[in-house]
Amino acid sequence: MEIIRARSAGFCAGVTKAIELAQRAAKLSDEPLYSLGPIVHNHQVVEKLAAQGVKVVHDPAAVPSGRLLIRSHGVSPEVWEAAQTRGLTLIDATCPRVRRVQELARQLTREGYQVVVVGEAEHPEVIGIIGWSDSQAIVINGVDQLEMVPASARLAVISQTTYPEDKYFQVVRALVECCHELRAYNTTCPATRERQEAALELAGQVDLIIVVGDRDSANTRQLTNLCLRCGIPAYQVETADELDPTWFNGVKRVGLTAGASTPEWIIEEVKERMMEFSEDNAAAQEQVKTDLAPNLDPKIEEQDAEEGMDAHFQSFKDIKPGDIITGTVVQVRDDEVLVDVGGKSEGIIPLKELSVRNLASARDTVRTGEKIDVLVLRVENDEGNMLLSKRRADQARAWDWLEEAFQSKKEITGEVTQVVKGGLLVDVGARGFVPASQIERSYVANLGNYLGKTLRLRVIELDRSKNKVVLSQKAILEDEYARAQQELWENIAEGQVRRGIVRRLTNFGAFVDLGGADGLLHISEMSWTHIKHPSEVVKEGDEVEVQVLAVDKAKQRISLGLKQVTPSPWQKVEEKYAVGQIVTGRVMRLVPFGVFVQLEPGIEGLVHISQLADRRVGKPDDVVRVGEEVKVKILEIKPAEQRISLSISQAKAEAQAAEYREYLDNQPPAPMVTVQEAVGEMKSGVDQK
Ligand code: F3S
Repeated sequence: MEIIRARSAGFCAGVTKAIELAQRAAKLSDEPLYSLGPIVHNHQVVEKLAAQGVKVVHDPAAVPSGRLLIRSHGVSPEVWEAAQTRGLTLIDATCPRVRRVQELARQLTREGYQVVVVGEAEHPEVIGIIGWSDSQAIVINGVDQLEMVPASARLAVISQTTYPEDKYFQVVRALVECCHELRAYNTTCPATRERQEAALELAGQVDLIIVVGDRDSANTRQLTNLCLRCGIPAYQVETADELDPTWFNGVKRVGLTAGASTPEWIIEEVKERMMEFSEDNAAAQEQVKTDLAPNLDPKIEEQDAEEGMDAHFQSFKDIKPGDIITGTVVQVRDDEVLVDVGGKSEGIIPLKELSVRNLASARDTVRTGEKIDVLVLRVENDEGNMLLSKRRADQARAWDWLEEAFQSKKEITGEVTQVVKGGLLVDVGARGFVPASQIERSYVANLGNYLGKTLRLRVIELDRSKNKVVLSQKAILEDEYARAQQELWENIAEGQVRRGIVRRLTNFGAFVDLGGADGLLHISEMSWTHIKHPSEVVKEGDEVEVQVLAVDKAKQRISLGLKQVTPSPWQKVEEKYAVGQIVTGRVMRLVPFGVFVQLEPGIEGLVHISQLADRRVGKPDDVVRVGEEVKVKILEIKPAEQRISLSISQAKAEAQAAEYREYLDNQPPAPMVTVQEAVGEMKSGVDQK
């Protein structure tokens, strides 16, 4: 596993300076030292400082005497005065950037502007800034709270230093439209921006990101959310102990970043623990990219917020990493796509950033002239091109509608892209997993049959932070089956003809799925001819049309007939056969009272034992054998009862009589004599005597 660290991560200059001040003060004097609020949003650091004698208080009134350290967030003038009134020695570790925001709030309020702070109302830095505006400033967390801003006022918009810049610009953009006079000062801290840009850059290179930082730290939370918005699994941990080895299963490249309140030693501990999880620890250590070291330079960038104010006001239309924009495909190569996003040079989408699928060529998925949404990974790479990701834009959008589909249980579709251990991977904008047990209502033996097929799916598990989408086709099929079951039992009736699927064969018949319940098709109802096994007529999977012969709703049993939906040979039996007719048939079965002879498929007649021969017969097999062809005379036909009476003995007698007649017919005629000749012959006979 390769571990890549963000080029900017961990303590910012302001926090570094505050901690140095605290440590130095603790060393210099034994006079009690207090920090007004935790010096940094990090429990581990606070505990370490406590061990060095820095106690945390939340109100200057709680400090009996000694020194009070003002942390980098700063405080309001009231708090400042309260501490001085108590005679406390103040150590000011307010970050110079925060100090400038406080000054802006005071100055703009005095100039008659309604100051709007874009940020979190409860954040200590924001509470301090409000104090510097004589408690006149309004705090909004984004465009959703614009109604709190008076429409006609002269407005001045500033930002919490650690607040997402895009939210600040969204507010400015909205207020431009509706106020008479607006002054906008982008007071977001570059340290925050740098960490966010570095995290976005990292998101383009790795499969998973670990964000190290305290859960109370706003900038760390925002880093985590930013990574998640890029469609990358991101976990926020406070310490190495919170790492879960299963997160790294199958992960080749993992990114490591940290908020501005995270010390270097915790980042290092996390990195080392991840290396222990790596299957090849030694190899991983070599691969760790230490060249992307965090910005630990305690020197504050001395950029004047006043100088930048107009530039910032103008720049809200600029494209930033993390933005999703629309572009037009201008060229498609095998390994990348060039996109016109309206800039001076084209943006590039590398092949791996094109789709959640493993593509052989970029030509498989986009065409020149096509309009597509892309997420900005870097505004400019080394060649001056914007680095873009269609995959992440698709994923970011997909997550929104996947969440909606999850909540509403809506049916969606997805193509199967890969067979993996235990199930299928499907493309639903993001990469989804369908466990083998969730594909069909019955067991699926060969998952490979589903490759390339489109499944009907329902989201059954969703965890954006883990990039986990679990889907089920079975859930939809089960629901449909339940509905069909209800409909079937309400409407099924004897005599109906229904379609069904043969699900299972037994020696005595077949079970047919009618789409809601299985009915039994008995072997005797399969064919008009006698069959020995159901497989002679149907096989599993056959779609058949069957007649409902009987329904028992109480016992939920349905009897079906297959032969009933084909014409019965008995219908035309009187047209084809007549009493007295002698026909040829085949002996099918011997029974104690006679034999059954088939005249044609589906038409069998009985030769009673008394009609087998012109003598007394003890057992039928004394006379005939099964399969033997015999001549029979039709004695009686009863189509309604499906019965024909036959006689072998009468057929034989008639055959013999016919034979004798034929013999006689073939004898030579007697010679002709006259009466006189005959008398003469008689006399001659008498004389001789
Ligand atoms: Fe200061 Fe920026 Fe850090 S405002 S405290 S340098 S995040």
